[in-house]
Amino acid sequence: MNRENKMAQLALFKKECKSFFSQIYHDTEKILVFGEGNVNSPMVLVGEAPGEQETIKQRPFVGKAGKNLEEFLDILELEREDIYITNVVKFRPFKKNEKTGRLSNRPPTREEIDLSRVWLIKELTIIEPKVVVSLGNTALKTLSGRRDIKIGDVHGNPFDIEIGDKGYVTSLFPLYHPASIIYRRELKAIYEEDLKKLKAYMDSLV
Ligand code: URA
Repeated sequence: MNRENKMAQLALFKKECKSFFSQIYHDTEKILVFGEGNVNSPMVLVGEAPGEQETIKQRPFVGKAGKNLEEFLDILELEREDIYITNVVKFRPFKKNEKTGRLSNRPPTREEIDLSRVWLIKELTIIEPKVVVSLGNTALKTLSGRRDIKIGDVHGNPFDIEIGDKGYVTSLFPLYHPASIIYRRELKAIYEEDLKKLKAYMDSLV
């Protein structure tokens, strides 16, 4: 598919996705944050779900985790606009403090992930990247379809996955979530090593 066709398909995808979730969740705070970037990128990054900043700005990875993502892109010698970035869940999973009314992030539930998976598959089928980089356990489990898989066991080691049921096979490259190195500093060196492996892997594909 050329760029124009992909853009047209993505516009339709967003419309359908919005309409689907508005029937399920009547909650107006569930604002959808869609993927963005280069639709012809050979690499797509898939995070977990948008947080507060992402929901305000309606863009993925622009909060704290986005800062780590910038360092990540430096190692890959890429600009944000070069690649396509999205999330498994397209809305912010939050809980509300009944006393203060304040919202805070929480991990997505199994139900939210199951409802979102089909939309992620549709999105990836439009972009058709050569490599899908999963950031953290939620994206890894959702994309591999394996609940028992753990990022600690497979990070930095790509394997093939089938996306959807039309025979589209791509490579899944698992990475730790960029936010995990905020609270687990010991992962920083491992993370950088994995990024270098990813760069070599991408270079080997061209
Ligand atoms: N921001 C996102 O868009 N996704 C994440 O997974 C984390 C922060």
